[in-house]
Amino acid sequence: MQDFSLSIRLWFRQNSRTLPWRETKDPYLIWLSEIILQQTRVDQGRAYYEKFVKHYPKVQDLASASQENVLNDWQGLGYYSRARNLHYAAQQIVEEFDGFFPQTYKEIKSLKGVGDYTAAAIASFAFDLPYAVVDGNVYRVLSRYFADATPIDSTAGKKLFAAYAKELLSQEDPGEHNQAMMELGALVCKPKNPDCDNCPVQDSCEAYRKNEMLDYPVKSKKTKVRDRYFNYLVSGNTQFQFEKREGKGIWQNMYQFPLFETKVEKSMNDLNGDLQQEFGVSAVDRIASYTHILSHQKIHAIFWKVDKVISDNDRLLHVDIERVDEYPLPRLIHRFFEEHNPEYGGN
Ligand code: ADE
Repeated sequence: MQDFSLSIRLWFRQNSRTLPWRETKDPYLIWLSEIILQQTRVDQGRAYYEKFVKHYPKVQDLASASQENVLNDWQGLGYYSRARNLHYAAQQIVEEFDGFFPQTYKEIKSLKGVGDYTAAAIASFAFDLPYAVVDGNVYRVLSRYFADATPIDSTAGKKLFAAYAKELLSQEDPGEHNQAMMELGALVCKPKNPDCDNCPVQDSCEAYRKNEMLDYPVKSKKTKVRDRYFNYLVSGNTQFQFEKREGKGIWQNMYQFPLFETKVEKSMNDLNGDLQQEFGVSAVDRIASYTHILSHQKIHAIFWKVDKVISDNDRLLHVDIERVDEYPLPRLIHRFFEEHNPEYGGN
């Protein structure tokens, strides 16, 4: 299958975007970029990559930073377990590998937050090792190229597409091959409007031959999305009560207004019975609401103005408006400050 690889690599040399992480062979920087790009678009990820390179130029800088600083720098990117794993893995590299980035696929995969995809990306981009990457873009390219309707989210599908990817992989330049596959998926073999006229492998693409591009990839199940209602209690305009999110979960160790979660959307009246019992306060105004969509959850955040501060308990902090930026906040809390608090002058 050398023709396939050669075609996409020649196309890649002429058509790829110039991206900062493609200009380096430093495994630490490549790893950083791949973690940032796991659930983030290139346009958005780029600024964060540059910020992290500047704040933590070496793995030792990241390992010795506080988790709070790392989360603060990650703020706005979402899926914060990536940032916590990144920080943890930097410490693994310093402690278990004497500060030298591991150089085998198996050792790279032993880093927290690094799965098959990321390990193959780092191994091939930084060390020219022959591991094929399979991500969402690659599933789309392969399922169309072979017109294969095996569901990509089934065990059989995962095995099959990994085998296709391996078969097509260039032994000559696996790093360039992998970049080219991903770039083809991002720029040409796009989900809704594939640009087949500019595709370097149009001639041998089965889906193109049958004009069935949009039938692939096939998924067996729809992702179940859970609705959650986060009622946030806002007690002032210039001073707020914050709580730290404990336990596992999306925003672990970040800060938020005191939260009362419900399974359904509640009217102010219905909510007030519960709020009195839990917190000894009442909602007096519904200030704002946002919806935040994650891969498996739809979060409905509702911000309620409450009639008084919640009587002190050790869990709650009192934070002045000028100090809000010192706390890592989920994007939607940050957005609330930007859009609904004229006193807020932060970034
Ligand atoms: N998405 C994930 N990794 C990427 C990379 N190295 N270049 C462009 N997009 C990506």
